[in-house]
Amino acid sequence: MTKKPPAATFSAATEPATIVRNLTLEQKARLLSGASFWTTAEAPGVPSAYLADGPHGVRRLDADVGDIEGAVPATCFPPAVALGSTFDVGLVERVGEAVAAEAQRRGVDVVLGPGINIKRSPLCGRNFEYVAEDPLLAGEIGAALVTGIQGKGVATSLKHFAANNQETERMRVSADIDERTLREIYLRGFQRVVTKAQPATLMSSYNRINGTYTGEDRRITTDILRGEWGFKGLVMSDWGAVHNRIAGIRAGLDLEMPGGGEGRVKEIVAAVKSGTLDLADVDRSATRVATLALAAQGARGAAGPPAEPGHDAETWHDDAHHVLAREAAGRAIVLLKNDGGLLPLAPQTRLAVIGELARTPRYQGAGSSQIVPTRLDDALAAIQDSATDVVFAPGYELGAAGGAGAGDRAGSASGRRPAKAAAADAAAALAAALAADAVAAARDAGVVLFFAGLPQSAEAEGRDREHIELPASQLALLDRVLEVNPRVVVVLSNGSVVRLSGFADRVPAIVEGWLLGQAGGGAVADVLFGRVNPSGRLTETIPLRIEDTPAWTSFPGTGLHVTYGEGIFVGYRWYDARDMAVQFPFGHGLSYTTFAYSGLAVSTGSVGSADGKGSTGGGDLTATVTVTNTGGVAGREVVQCYVSLPGSTVPRAPRALAAFAIVDLAPGESRQVELAVARDDLAYWDVRADRWLVEGGAYRVEVGASSRDLRATAEVAVPPDSVVVPLTGQSSLGEAMVHPVIGPTVTGMLQAAGLSDDVMVMTRAMPLERLPYQPGSGVTHKQLKQLLDVANGTGGLTTRTANKLLTLTARLRRRR
Ligand code: BGC
Repeated sequence: MTKKPPAATFSAATEPATIVRNLTLEQKARLLSGASFWTTAEAPGVPSAYLADGPHGVRRLDADVGDIEGAVPATCFPPAVALGSTFDVGLVERVGEAVAAEAQRRGVDVVLGPGINIKRSPLCGRNFEYVAEDPLLAGEIGAALVTGIQGKGVATSLKHFAANNQETERMRVSADIDERTLREIYLRGFQRVVTKAQPATLMSSYNRINGTYTGEDRRITTDILRGEWGFKGLVMSDWGAVHNRIAGIRAGLDLEMPGGGEGRVKEIVAAVKSGTLDLADVDRSATRVATLALAAQGARGAAGPPAEPGHDAETWHDDAHHVLAREAAGRAIVLLKNDGGLLPLAPQTRLAVIGELARTPRYQGAGSSQIVPTRLDDALAAIQDSATDVVFAPGYELGAAGGAGAGDRAGSASGRRPAKAAAADAAAALAAALAADAVAAARDAGVVLFFAGLPQSAEAEGRDREHIELPASQLALLDRVLEVNPRVVVVLSNGSVVRLSGFADRVPAIVEGWLLGQAGGGAVADVLFGRVNPSGRLTETIPLRIEDTPAWTSFPGTGLHVTYGEGIFVGYRWYDARDMAVQFPFGHGLSYTTFAYSGLAVSTGSVGSADGKGSTGGGDLTATVTVTNTGGVAGREVVQCYVSLPGSTVPRAPRALAAFAIVDLAPGESRQVELAVARDDLAYWDVRADRWLVEGGAYRVEVGASSRDLRATAEVAVPPDSVVVPLTGQSSLGEAMVHPVIGPTVTGMLQAAGLSDDVMVMTRAMPLERLPYQPGSGVTHKQLKQLLDVANGTGGLTTRTANKLLTLTARLRRRR
């Protein structure tokens, strides 16, 4: 994995525990709730900290306002869906630094993000706020954002911990997940961010996991988070997520947001006085709140006083950040298809730009992450600036159900606004006229740039999507345009995947523009005209149809339970395991140049642990491969490394992303790329050992340009973890046969019995605790215990026990 600088620290200078010790119980209890919608409470010696949403910008609201109305403008960087697609941790870190700088100027101490929940289903209404369907990628991008923001002295809040993978019934639903899946898919990204970047705070999710609210789940919130991963910060609730506050404090939920008022203070005080809550738990959580607030105060001092908050975009305008937002957006755009090199466009090409989304961009998702931008670029103006012959036809309307809200138009370069049809007849007539104009414009164009995308109402916090279709009016218009001009580039605006299979084969070029933030319009033009050679990659598979997706039959659950029945087979793990066709695979993205791979070599050594606590034993992997730019223009390749263990003893995905790296190459240039895979990332969660385990064996290392464009493969021998799963009465004879201590003896005895293959199969499956009951075995409970003691290093095997086993096998042979 890309080597990163050590995470910046965000810690208090004054000793918070001392301050808290001197507070009254009431004062301590008050610290455990927010004082307002966005502030923590004060106490003698403890200042208040200011929290604000993000993380693709700073959403500073007045303390008691929960709504976007009146938010201070800030640079709207590309949301997580787009930042993930850059695969560029350095760039994401720079975005984090810029967000921190804006937070400081706006007096914000804690940016409420990043959100790194796994995209379990394309139907999750909040996927635009999340990074990927893969935990390693989500963790790397999340860690980069945390490192960038905290490196500048502003705290972050990693969210939503955990398994908040849908919006339907998000405040009540139980995500029912088996332990291996929970660890390997839904917690692993959080583990990565915590161990790599140590976020100052973490936000527990609304939902329950296996029946327990996450904020009341001590195993999740304390044992795993702190005990296993070493989290040092504060855990806060999502807004309004608290149910049983006392159970939450016991479990490790330090801070309730936005706050429970005086009632909560009394409740906590009474619980301590009645002995149902330990004072030590209150002290611990109050100390964490004090630590955060004091650290924030220290950081504020270092940064100087914040600028006076104003509501005028100009006051907060920041050219450099807008430029950075454009760079990040350009890197996020994924060129899905480009038959015949239709792109990039020559400036003299006669262009028809079709689609209201070209001049009224949809650039972020709706809900708590929404930023009031400092300004807003639209693609149409940027295209008009880049080409000599451009006609525009809106083609369709973005109404109430149709896309960017009225607020999104503020600051738009064009300032025009489509009519809102009042009556159905008028609407139909208008739609027909818009479509006819668009078809006429398309007819004579050299190239048609067709802007399609989802309306804002289709994906928003608080509700899930019902399908992954583009609006029917846009698809019908596209069909008509294709009838008069096949040279169509479809440019998409969507926060999560949409179905492309209805037209993907009929258009020569498709550009996935996600939601790109306030500078996305310019970035789209940069890619269309080749000023930026596209290098974005898919962080989620684009399926052929929603029915193919892993969670299709279980999402979003019934009776307030959702069963994660697909297990670890999420995203590309699912499609690969089932060998299913997809529209575009995870990791896919084209360039205006081409790359060749050669000389893959994999060595074992030490690259350090990426996941922190995990497996034992050395043997990290380093894959090196030479990448050559074989085309005519400079470009960037996102080199991806996937690992698997064919013949594993546990079900595994055919491949899992284990590392990635970006390499910028001039035409003809070659470079050796190093992909470091920590041994911890080879581990699976073993439910019997209740820990991470690295299986020994010949691992397959695949390197390439996407999960289905693998250019080189190597094998490498990895030694197993020297962990012995304890034998119990429930262990089988087969497991005893491969046990490192008693295995040879047991195997020898069973082999000596000369069992037929059939009987051997049945015998191997027998639990050891059945031996005393096996007719004629002669093995006593005491002898079985002795055998287990030997295996587990807690006793000695007597000759008599061994003889009894021999007797058993002899009898089995007679029964045959
Ligand atoms: C969201 C969080 C957000 C919080 C504060 C909640 O509804 O789930 O992501 O940080 O509100 O706005």
